[in-house]
Order: sequence, then C-alpha cells, then structure tokens
Amino acid sequence: MNIQQIAKLANVSPSTVSKVMNGNDKDISEATRARVLRVISENNYVPYSRFLKKEGLQQRVIGILLEKGFPYHCQITYTVNETASKQEYSVAAYTFSDDDSRLSAFEEIMRLNPSGVIVYSSQDIDENMNASNVVYITDTKDFATPKKNTFYFSKSDSGCMAAEYLLSAGHRQISYISDSVGKAMLQGIEEYLRNSSGASLSSCFISDSEEEISKFGLLQCVNDQVSAVICGSPALACRAAAYAVSIGMRIPEDISIISIGDSEILDNLFGGITCVSFPVKEMSAAAANFILSQNQPKSHSQTQHIFHSRVTERHSIAPPLLKRTGGKIIAVGSMNMDVTLEVNSIPIEGETQIAESIITLPGGKGANQAIGVGKLGGQVSMIGRLGTDPDGRALYKNLTDNGVNVDGVEFDPISSSGKAFIYIDSEGENTIVVYRGANSGLNHRQLERYNFLFAGAKYCLLSLEISTEAVTSTIELCRKHGVKVLLKPSAVEKIDETLLKYVDYFIPNERELQKIIPGELSIEEKAELLLEKGVNTVIVTLGKHGCYLKNRCFSEYFPAAPFTAVDTTGGADSFISALAVCMSEGADLIYSVMFAAYAAGITVTRYGVQEALPSRKTMDIYKNDIQRQYQKYKEKNK
Ligand code: RIB
Repeated sequence: MNIQQIAKLANVSPSTVSKVMNGNDKDISEATRARVLRVISENNYVPYSRFLKKEGLQQRVIGILLEKGFPYHCQITYTVNETASKQEYSVAAYTFSDDDSRLSAFEEIMRLNPSGVIVYSSQDIDENMNASNVVYITDTKDFATPKKNTFYFSKSDSGCMAAEYLLSAGHRQISYISDSVGKAMLQGIEEYLRNSSGASLSSCFISDSEEEISKFGLLQCVNDQVSAVICGSPALACRAAAYAVSIGMRIPEDISIISIGDSEILDNLFGGITCVSFPVKEMSAAAANFILSQNQPKSHSQTQHIFHSRVTERHSIAPPLLKRTGGKIIAVGSMNMDVTLEVNSIPIEGETQIAESIITLPGGKGANQAIGVGKLGGQVSMIGRLGTDPDGRALYKNLTDNGVNVDGVEFDPISSSGKAFIYIDSEGENTIVVYRGANSGLNHRQLERYNFLFAGAKYCLLSLEISTEAVTSTIELCRKHGVKVLLKPSAVEKIDETLLKYVDYFIPNERELQKIIPGELSIEEKAELLLEKGVNTVIVTLGKHGCYLKNRCFSEYFPAAPFTAVDTTGGADSFISALAVCMSEGADLIYSVMFAAYAAGITVTRYGVQEALPSRKTMDIYKNDIQRQYQKYKEKNK
C-alpha cells in the first residue's frame, strides 16, 4: 500500500493524504480528514511512527521485555512473533537485568508506541509499567490469587509434578540436583513428598558453581543409593545422565532421570530424557493473542490466565529395581517361547485331544531360572541366544523387565527363537517338546566373549537344551573363575559323565535321574552313585512329594510346600533359582532348600512360568513358615 493507493481509496489527491499525515491540514475539511484517517487505519498503512503517535494510533508492534538469565527467551520471542505475524504485527524484543534497566528498556519500547508489551520477569507487576496493554508472564507460588493481565505458571507446581511422576512409578529413594533457579521447584518437590507417606528426598544439591556440581553434586545425587534423580534444568539432566552412564549405570534400568524444563537436546540424548515442561509456548501465544484481541473492537479477553506444566514422557523413567542382594549369579541355558495347551490328559500314541485353552508365554529353563533370581532380588546375568523374531524380542524384554542383566544375550541372525510345546493335564502335570532354534547356536566363542561375567560370580545355573559345547565351555569357565555349578539335566539329552565331578549341585527330577542312572535302584542309591561320580550335592526334585537331598553330610527328604499345583511347568526352575539366591545371601543349605521348596510351591499354583515365579515380596509372606520349619529341623537334628 502506498500513498497513491490511499489517496485513490479516500477519493482525494496524494497531496491531501500527505497533508493529513504531516499535520499540515488546516485547509482540509474535518470530513475529508476523518475519511483519510479511516482508510489509513483500515489498510494498516504505517508510514511514520511520529504520525501514528500524533493521531493516537499504535504501531502494529508487540514489545517483549525479557529478564536476562532466565531461560526460554528464544521460545517466547519465537512464539510471540509467530502469533503476531499472522495478523501482520511485528515484534520488538529487549532484555534487562535489574530494576533500572527494566524501566529504561520499557520506556524505550513505549517510544515505539506498540500495541502492547509482554514482560517476562521474576517480578510481580511493576507500578511504573502498569497499563492495560502491558501483560506479564511470571512464576507464582500461589495459583489461588492470580492478578489481572498476568499469565502465570508455577515452578513449584512443576517440582510437585516431577515428584508425583516418580512416586507413581514406585520410586522412594529420590535425589534433587539444581542451580539456584531450582529452589522454587524444590519447594514443590518437598511439599509433595511431605504429603505422601514414606517418601522424602534422599539427597539434595543446589549450587551455581559448575565445579561444585562436578565434584560433589553428581556424586551425591547420582548413585545406587537412589533410584531416581530430579534435575532442575535440561542442562543438569544431561550432565546427570552422562555421569550415570560413565559410572556404569543404565538409564532407566539402574536409575531414572527426570528434568524440570524441556529442551530439544533431551529428545535426542541418552535415548530421550523425560521432563516436566513449562507451558512457555502456550503462555507466550496466549499473551500475544491477549494483546492482539485488545486491539479488536469487541474483545472479551479473560483477565486471569493460569497455565500448568505437563510431563513429556521419553522413557528415562522405569520402576525401581529391587535392592539386589547376595552374590553374583549367572544363568546359562535355553530361552523358549512356551506354547501351553491345557488338556484333560496328556495324549498317548495315536490319540487326538481337544485342548481346553492355548496360551503363549516366555519360558525356557535358562531364562526361567534367570528371571527367578531377578524376581527374588538377586544379581543375575543371562547368557544365551535368541532369534531376531518377535518371540526373541518378547523374551528379551521379559528378562530386562525382571532385572536380569542381558549383556550375554545375543540375537542370532539366522535361527528363530527356541519354542516349547507344553501339554498340561488336569492334575497340572506336563509333557514338553522343545524346538531349540537359536539356543543351539550358543557356543564356546559366545561364552568366551562373556568371560568377564564369570569373574566374581558365586553360582552358575546351568541347564540343557543348548549345545554340548556350550555346557562344556560353561563348566570350564566356572572352574577357571571358582564359580559353583548348579546343573539341571534333561530327560532327553545325554550329559558327558566326566563333567559330573565339576558339578556342585546336581538337580534332576525323577525322570532325569532315571535317564542318567537307569535301572531299578532307589532314589537314595542313585544319588549315592552320582556322588561317587564326583557330584558334590544331589537334590532330586519330587514334585508334590518335595525333594531328596544327598551329600557327604546329609541324606534327607524335605516336604513340598503346602500348595495345590495347577501347572507344574517351571517348578524346578523356580526351585533352582531360589536355592541359589538364598545360598548366595549366606543362608545354609538346609534353609535354602526349604526356601526353594516354597518358591517352587508358589510357582506351580499359577499358569505359565516366568509370570508365576514369586517375587521377594511374595516370599516374605512365608518367611515365618519357612523359619519355623527350619527351627523344627534344627531341633530334631541337634
Ligand atoms: O522348565 C520348564 C521349561 O522347560 C519351559 O519353560 C520350556 O521352555 C522348557 O525349556
């Protein structure tokens, strides 16, 4: 739009328009003058601010005053500009650092005669800067008494939200690290924790010194005494995450991290960091729209504007791990997807049966035993092989979800994951057919790659359905590192008898015992023969009849726990993992066998294996019963 076009629309000459604009309009009638001004205004013709001022017209400009040292300047300016430019307004942004510079920056902006000014400041309304077209974006501690023309968010509300998010994920050991801006968030965190029973901040570090944060803050707030850390800014969240990784912690398995405040970097680093984001964008757009609407003939703008933060989930938060107890345990064995068919009776040769139900769940002796340890709170690493198929991914996830270290699990690019087809009869007894798939690919080379997992380990839970080479290599590695071997044999696979002398605990069921020592001998006699072959301790699992233990000190039967079985699959896996956890915590063999019998008893009362394995919490319910049984045994054998 130029002066000629304005003149044409107002039906006057360009010189008349020029005269009106320059105030040289004595010889122009009031009606013509008003018509020219109306056309100028309607067409947003803004040639000179001097002229606009003289006529009481405002520039189509929104001023922004930003307090230095506050984050989000770019986001505010960008959003206001985006909103304003849609209505052909532009933006002028100024920064200030203290009260004086704030006022002078304000006066400078006002000289532009803007349509409105947005002040982003920690201060409340400044009386010197109080006009109907001045709005504030600010933090409040109290949403209950909002002020006019002010767009509120609350840092303390954000802190509260972060604490709430962690607590609802199950965290109770939480730390907070921040710079001094984060003191406001700390109030919200503390308030929320105070009102939630059983939770308080385990540690808190606030400093503006980079050096102090590096030297003390990270050490104090990121360690295995806490399961989650709240960081007062995205920059600190990145530092905390980098520090956690540098000391061998995994996010979120070992430690959960949440940032108060968002930034693009949180989307990309460490697989993403969950944050509570301030409503900066929403507030800036609303403040800009408020000013724009003030300039509309009939504006019905609200006067109170409250904005809440929100959580952006990026998977850096997981439920806390159990406090791991006992010595290190390794599980080497199969990982299968179990397809379980519930039938009236196990089909015999030539028979066809109708299944009552079919259910597919993660299983495999190796994985079951590893998860058994994980659920009981033991420290366990799995070594095994999966296919790159959906079964493989589900099996892998179930391991990690249950606290199993999966460093030694590899994906086979060729073979599919192992599968087991299981029939369960009405008594809960089972028959299993295993397709080994990727499990057969576990070999000497893979085991050697995870040699380091054996160092410092106490027990190795070794089962079959893997290659003979893998069994032999595992036993060799255990010998090299002084790790005790618990071996679960199989009724279909042969075991090299020369290896038995390296087996500390040999744990067959009756059928497996029969396979290795065929003939009519009693369980006791067969166990004795195994001791002669070099096994240190034999434990024969006998289902609902409990188990038989034999070594150079004991020859004892122990009853099963008093539960009714619905699915016996995995009962022995549960027994073995519980036995190892209990012994690794320092309990004696007899107590550990009793503990293991309860774990197995609980497992068989539920369908499936990994789902059915008891957690430590469940085992705690029976702690007194196990203790009583143990005391009785001790009394009897004084
Ligand atoms: O011990 C039970 C397990 O044996 C099942 O989960 C099945 O996969 C087989 O390995």
